[in-house]
Amino acid sequence: MPQKVILDVDTGGDDAVAILLAGHHPALELVAVTVTHGNAPLSVTLDNTLRVMQAGGLAHIPVYAGAHSPLIGPPIPTHRYQSETLPVPPSTLRAQPKHAVEFLIAYYLGPHGTETIYMPVGPQTNMALALRLEPRLVQRIPRIVTMAGAYQEGNVTPSAEFNVLADPEAAQVVFSSGIPITMIGLEVTSQAPVSEEVVKKTFALGTPQAQIAARLMQREIDWFREHLGVDGQIFDACAVAAVIDPALVETRPMRVCIELQGQWTRGRTVADVSGHHRQPANADVGIHIDRERFYQVLYDGLA
Ligand code: BDR
Ligand code: CA
Repeated sequence: MPQKVILDVDTGGDDAVAILLAGHHPALELVAVTVTHGNAPLSVTLDNTLRVMQAGGLAHIPVYAGAHSPLIGPPIPTHRYQSETLPVPPSTLRAQPKHAVEFLIAYYLGPHGTETIYMPVGPQTNMALALRLEPRLVQRIPRIVTMAGAYQEGNVTPSAEFNVLADPEAAQVVFSSGIPITMIGLEVTSQAPVSEEVVKKTFALGTPQAQIAARLMQREIDWFREHLGVDGQIFDACAVAAVIDPALVETRPMRVCIELQGQWTRGRTVADVSGHHRQPANADVGIHIDRERFYQVLYDGLA
């Protein structure tokens, strides 16, 4: 039986690859996609999501629009490449009439809730709102697997990773909820960069989803090369791959708290990495990914 998942996205090039992988890999059943602000305002992330769903052969999967801003602070500024409309044809699809938060509550209280992994790969505003409205979700969501945070160095500031900095209060609500969490942070995603070789192999798979993913990965590579001088990253796809193949990522249980106040450290995922502080763990934190196996999961899903 494929593993049921709900993906919560702020599409974004790497979110798009994550959607295509989750929607097409035989090991997963993508039940629904919920959308949040993050890489761009909600109007853009929703439009990008609908484009990817239609062009990528996933028009049958419902999409729900969610939070348009963080719980407390203003949206953080983003790079133009993050916030652009993706180079994917416009879609005629529409979001479902229900708000994403209402959908998440109804779904997780329903018959399939306890068997469906929730996967936020953007800011965690939708789930934070859902948990505040319906605390019984803590007993219903079997696991959250999220692309979030870093236990070493951030990518927006030296302390903070983008998805957490984009709504630190929401991340704290989620990380302190008691729901089992797998955190796929920057230490994992940076171990699985994509190069032109991966793009070439993906494109050669020939399916529409592979060709869209290949073009979007090349776009990530171009940006990373120009700005950071390294290969591209498809952060969110690493989290999806970790659900497809649980042995792909090695994790370690850690206590992770979100810094909400620091002048230089707001949005940091403060982790008891050594375990010396003997704080009870609330997350399985990814520390290593098998890179070649990750690429294979990608090819298998997009083929
Ligand atoms: C995360 O930030 C976003 O820009 C990407 O989509 C990814 O989810 C990486 O820090
Ligand atoms: Ca994202």
